[in-house]
Amino acid sequence: MIHLFSKLAQIFSLLALCVVGILVALVFVQADIKKLEQEEQISNWACGTVSPSEHLVLDTAIVSDTIIAGKALFENNCQQCHSAGADVVVGPGLKGILERRTMEWVVPWVQNSQRMIAGGDPYGNALYNKYNKAQMQSFDLTEYEIKAIMAYIQIYKEYVYLSDK
Ligand code: HEC
Repeated sequence: MIHLFSKLAQIFSLLALCVVGILVALVFVQADIKKLEQEEQISNWACGTVSPSEHLVLDTAIVSDTIIAGKALFENNCQQCHSAGADVVVGPGLKGILERRTMEWVVPWVQNSQRMIAGGDPYGNALYNKYNKAQMQSFDLTEYEIKAIMAYIQIYKEYVYLSDK
């Protein structure tokens, strides 16, 4: 009888140890998930999706040099044919462009859209036909300059709001 009792005690203490082990593991997994979520937010932001931190930056009116440079580049090179909003000018409005296209597509497109069309890019060809074969000229802009233009377009609405104040 005593023997059985001590066996049971052994089994219970083993079970208790397992439960503690699982709880500790869960705490670590939770911490990892939190970290992953944060990293994802940061990388989303770097790719252009609006994040809470972007609004924070704008609320404190710190508009970065990149966006100011992007605005000037847009006005000098693109505005004659594109709006940063949704309206069509000569070409499509560029609002939400990074939801339609990746940055890896946009950069070579701006540098030489005709080369991409001739190379058979399906999206480029469809767009070219839709806009009655209106040609977008090539731009001798660096990847950074094109990314700055995209950054400005991403926050265009907020930028207007800030400069109105
Ligand atoms: C002379 C007019 C013109 C200028 C200037 C111009 N574009 Fe375009 N763009 C177009 C046209 C027209 C299209 C539609 C495709 C076509 O016909 O080649 C287009 C398409 C685009 C697209 C694809 C849009 C979409 O909705 O998928 C992007 C991105 C773009 N242009 C960016 C720029 C940027 C950035 C600049 C300035 C550096 C610029 N364009 C300057 C005429 C122009």
